[in-house]
Amino acid sequence: MYRSHTNGELRIEHVNQHVSLCGWVQKSRDLGAMTFVDLRDRYGITQLVLGEEHVDVAKSLGREDVIRIEGTVIERESKNKNIPTGEIEIAVIELTVLNKSKVPPFTIEKETDGGEELRMQYRYLDLRRPPLQKNLKLRHQLAIEARKYLDSIDFLEIETPYLIKSTPEGARDFVVPSRMNEGQFYALPQSPQTFKQLLMVSGYDRYYQIVRCFRDEDLRADRQPEFTQIDCEMAFVDQEDILNTFEGMMDYLFKKVKGIEINEFPRMTYEFAMETYGSDKPDIRFGMTFNYINDVAQNKGFNVFDQAESVIAIVAEDCASYTRKQLDALTDYVKRPQVGAKGLVYVRCNEDGTFKSSVDKFYSEEDLKAWADQCGAKAGDLILVLSGDKAATQKQMNELRLHLGNELGLRNPNVYAPLWVYDFPLLEWDEESGRYHAMHHPFTSPKEEDVPLLENDPGNVRANAYDMVLNGTEIGGGSIRIHDRAVQSKMFDLLGFTKEEAQAQFGFLMNAFEYGAPPHGGIALGFDRLCALFGGQETIRDFIAFPKNNSGRDVMIDSPSPISTEQLDELNIQLK
Ligand code: AMO
Repeated sequence: MYRSHTNGELRIEHVNQHVSLCGWVQKSRDLGAMTFVDLRDRYGITQLVLGEEHVDVAKSLGREDVIRIEGTVIERESKNKNIPTGEIEIAVIELTVLNKSKVPPFTIEKETDGGEELRMQYRYLDLRRPPLQKNLKLRHQLAIEARKYLDSIDFLEIETPYLIKSTPEGARDFVVPSRMNEGQFYALPQSPQTFKQLLMVSGYDRYYQIVRCFRDEDLRADRQPEFTQIDCEMAFVDQEDILNTFEGMMDYLFKKVKGIEINEFPRMTYEFAMETYGSDKPDIRFGMTFNYINDVAQNKGFNVFDQAESVIAIVAEDCASYTRKQLDALTDYVKRPQVGAKGLVYVRCNEDGTFKSSVDKFYSEEDLKAWADQCGAKAGDLILVLSGDKAATQKQMNELRLHLGNELGLRNPNVYAPLWVYDFPLLEWDEESGRYHAMHHPFTSPKEEDVPLLENDPGNVRANAYDMVLNGTEIGGGSIRIHDRAVQSKMFDLLGFTKEEAQAQFGFLMNAFEYGAPPHGGIALGFDRLCALFGGQETIRDFIAFPKNNSGRDVMIDSPSPISTEQLDELNIQLK
């Protein structure tokens, strides 16, 4: 037997027991006659005491050596309240070095001195650190609990292929050349979308899969080229059924994994979200909602506002005392190219009932009071105003709102505010290609009452599409699908596919619709994002065991990398 216990297990009640432990040497402190060693495994740390008889081996021990010891559990003289094993230590009788370690390139403790790149290169060492072990454990728990929930309501987990052909989810495909079919390529799935719909045609009316998806797109903190979805589809359901089922799943996960009751799960239309927060994934942990003040701010001689389509104000509570410097910093923030505003107008609602604004030249106290009334601002608050083209101003104000939310500590990662956003537009106009694109994907159905608009006002057609949003992050998206061949074919027309192209790419799905396709719909949750948010973080990388860096590289295995001429020849690929 290698070990009788793990390094997180022994307590005061084990005193006098003979035990064996295995693990990595985290630290070793040589006190002359005695050496203390912190022995680590993924369960915790146990302190070892090596007496004089072990002096030689104690001196030779290095960080990250793998050892096995036998010894007796004894009570510690000076107890460490910070760790669960802190009341005991092991008086070592026998120590075996199972494998020596080179000096690790960075400290393998909770806090490390290793830079990002170095830690990625030695990911297997970084993964020994407690924060990452905690993250991967959380990921495991979430996966287990999601499976339990879905299983309890009759969902079947069914695997779908990875070597497929392109599904249009809006990103580029990763492609894989086929050796046996010269000049032809598989695509890795951006999601199992078409397969899960085919499973509905096959009668598996509740499907799910915790599944890897591949998208060749620009990477950000919450995007990886390969990521995982909890992908689900249901037949004989309407939107309400889906929202209720997955709201139920979130309630269950929060309760089981975090011990939190989610009391509110609001639903708002896309239009409302855009009007109120300037975002289709609003962070509703805090207020600071938009006020449109055109009627009180225009026609007073301030050209910038007079010419604007929208004048939008938000109220930063109790911020009237912001200094000139702080206000300048906010102005600089909105003027950054990433935000793109031309300037920022502020009004201090002073405690004494007076107002002081950056546009006093154009507005009287009375005018400013009208702004404050319209925005619901009280004495002590600060009003911030942006103006211009409506959509652009909403977007800029959303950035400012989130920035202020961060600055004012209103975005506490331990507070969870999920919601649904629904009634998304079916299509969005793409300037570059000069045509409409499906906002969600081409299999999403239009709202019944908007179908007549498809002919002459497609941009205003709403979809039976919804996103689940958590703390300002889109964690899931789905829709009720088209299940009728004629409607699906019309959709491909609208998206600029010729009949032949549509048949060549999606004939299999449209053909299937002719053999009794039930009404169906579904959703996919971004599992990595869910894990990160449950872990109180925004970056998904540390919730994935072996992630890629921002250039899509795995620096540990050094991939992507060239392949041999033989391989290229076999695949009949010639590099330019
Ligand atoms: P969608 O494209 O909205 O929908 O994706 C679903 C969810 O997956 C997550 N996600 C990502 N996470 C990490 N890295 C990425 N690159 C990435 N891209 C997306 C997001 C997103 O909400 N087939 C449809 C689902 C459906 O209609 O049922 C789909 O894939 O959290």
